[in-house]
Amino acid sequence: MYYYFIKKFLFLFDPEKIHYFFCYVINFFYKIPFVKKIICKAYCIKDKRLQRKVFGITFHNPVGLAAGFDKNGQMIGPLSMFGFGFIEIGTITPLPQNGHPQPRLFRLPKDQALINRMGFNNQGLNKIVERLKKKKIPLTLGINIGKNKSTIEKKDIISDYITCFDALYPYAHYVVLNISSPNTQGLRKLQQKEDLLILLDYIQKKNQKNIPLLIKIAPDITKEAIDDIISVVQEKKIAGIIATNTTTSRVGLKTSVQKIKSIGDGGISGLPLKEKSTKIIRYIAKKSNHTIPIIASGGILSVADALEKIEAGATLLQIYTGFIYQGPGLIKAINKAILEKYPSKGP
Ligand SMILES: Cc1cc2nc3c(=O)[nH]c(=O)nc-3n(C[C@H](O)[C@H](O)[C@H](O)COP(=O)(O)O)c2cc1C
Repeated sequence: MYYYFIKKFLFLFDPEKIHYFFCYVINFFYKIPFVKKIICKAYCIKDKRLQRKVFGITFHNPVGLAAGFDKNGQMIGPLSMFGFGFIEIGTITPLPQNGHPQPRLFRLPKDQALINRMGFNNQGLNKIVERLKKKKIPLTLGINIGKNKSTIEKKDIISDYITCFDALYPYAHYVVLNISSPNTQGLRKLQQKEDLLILLDYIQKKNQKNIPLLIKIAPDITKEAIDDIISVVQEKKIAGIIATNTTTSRVGLKTSVQKIKSIGDGGISGLPLKEKSTKIIRYIAKKSNHTIPIIASGGILSVADALEKIEAGATLLQIYTGFIYQGPGLIKAINKAILEKYPSKGP
């Protein structure tokens, strides 16, 4: 109810501008110890039964913030006040880049969805590494990496991922190779078996410390492509799969065709992505006999959506659009429901 009014106000403004405003405000609150305490008290649940140990890493609870919200790792502390069990920063590329021209983020309130074509806007590796060096990381941190827009040749693309991996793994509990954003040309081609094998081979050779390495996949892929990905993941000892990124599909939306057309390209997140994403989770879990840890991302806007992902085979959950539409109370509500449904043992 409380968030309903805040949301009404926030939704009056441009989505990207309000994002930066929100970040500014919570950064400010985080610096005032008693306000930080009040926010934490309102949103965080501390209960050992929520802990999950996945690919050797402890997560204080299974509900995380998906990549793209804190692309530059500037908000890890402030965001931890809202009760997330883990936060994934990025996507980070070797060189800084501005991303696509604005406007590039749009709300579809009738669909509880967003369309974005941000295009990996980020401050680049060096600046982010400097920032992480100075930070005390208060919770489990995933770092999501990608390639620069200007990187076209296959060998250079691999080198972009290696450069990011080498510089960032000391600060990460796990690293994610983003091979599925629809807003960077040529990226999703990396999901094809031959390219994926080469990429993972190179990175795993560099991965002497056995940092859990995950891949994030698109929802717009065939069963055959998923089968290939599963076999590559098993062969290259990849720690897990994040399923899924945003979709390029525009099927079944409640928003008018004119509005969708006027927005143009981009990936859809939120409710319209839910079914597609869950189907992929269910398929991977079944096909791999539940041997591959899956982080569910895509269309979790309610407690029921979250429990459905767990039932489908997800080990951990990530939220982005649900955080925008439902507010931070959603994280607490999901964690409470998980405690009720799985009181003694995690999913
Ligand atoms: C504005 C925006 C920016 C995003 N940026 C990234 C990104 O940089 N890297 C990435 O892997 N995913 C990115 N995503 C995808 C989210 O991490 C998530 O996988 C997707 O939105 C589906 O989850 P949701 O339905 O809970 O939003 C972005 C999503 C949005 C809405």
